[in-house]
Amino acid sequence: MIKQLEELKSNAGQELDSINDVKELESWRVHHLGKKSELTKVLRSLATLPLEERKTVGAQANEVKANLEASLKQKRQVLQAAQLAVSTKREYFDITLPGRRPLTGRLHPITQTLYEICDIFASMGFEVVEGPEVEWDYYNFEALNIPKEHPARDSMSTSWIDFETENGDRPMLLRTHNTSVSARMIETRQPPIRVVEPGRVYRYEASDATHVPMFYQIDGLAVDKGITMADLKGTLYEFARRFFGEDRKVRFRCDYFPFVEPGVEMAIECSVCSGKGCRLCGNSGWIEILGAGMTHPQVLERGGIDPEVYQSFAFGMGIDRLPMLRYGIDDVRLFYGSDLRFLKQF
Ligand code: DAH
Repeated sequence: MIKQLEELKSNAGQELDSINDVKELESWRVHHLGKKSELTKVLRSLATLPLEERKTVGAQANEVKANLEASLKQKRQVLQAAQLAVSTKREYFDITLPGRRPLTGRLHPITQTLYEICDIFASMGFEVVEGPEVEWDYYNFEALNIPKEHPARDSMSTSWIDFETENGDRPMLLRTHNTSVSARMIETRQPPIRVVEPGRVYRYEASDATHVPMFYQIDGLAVDKGITMADLKGTLYEFARRFFGEDRKVRFRCDYFPFVEPGVEMAIECSVCSGKGCRLCGNSGWIEILGAGMTHPQVLERGGIDPEVYQSFAFGMGIDRLPMLRYGIDDVRLFYGSDLRFLKQF
């Protein structure tokens, strides 16, 4: 019987060596270690043996059993590892790699700036309003003291809409400034009025580093009893302090706009050279950011507001300039190019 056990062990061992898949391994197990296997038969017959023989054969049989079970376990591990290697080769998945961040959207830098400006004026009691981008000649020019043959029309490089009235006039255009919305406010609202008017404006121009045919402006208008130049300056100083920082210098100078009297231009100290003069500020140390003034009495009157009773100030600025100054951007076209490598930085 001892001999039988030894043969059994070596046969099973040899068979096991040639096995190379899990299914075969299972039939090997049933054959050599299952209930009907030779080994189990030997173990069952132990009881019928005389005591001495039972001891030796029993010990031997148990050893063979333990031995085969250990080999089975080892072989199973080897086969499973091999199978995993094959399947991961087909579909490689490394769970230790860090995850990829999903792309999150954000507001365009111009929109961010616009919101910031509106917030500043809203906190001073101004309401944010919008007007049409396709505008009547009347609100864009006529209502603002810019009649048909006025030279100020030439500086606006207007995009006219291809629409003629019976008498050959072309009364519609893409608005060239947001002051058109102020003209509408003067006509439709009753004082006191405090509004800011953000939005797109259009000029018939070729693009270069400082010009684009479509850009953003924000205009503002305040109409009330007893408004003076001091209110205008106070409001715009406060805006500049909040937007550009506490100690940025601000300069007012006379300027001309047909719809205000007197008219001023506001400049801030250049952020690049701190007023010493550089390429950005054209060696002047100052950068003009807006036009403003006391609304012309004729403009108020034309809109139905009595200039003897009410006074008004107005201002208007381009938005693109502001993030350019803040971040040191030297080409306005970058804002409108939709290049995510640029836009993702804000
Ligand atoms: N509309 C002017 C422009 O586009 C800017 C401007 C100047 C607006 C003076 C105003 C103002 O409201 O009072 O150049």
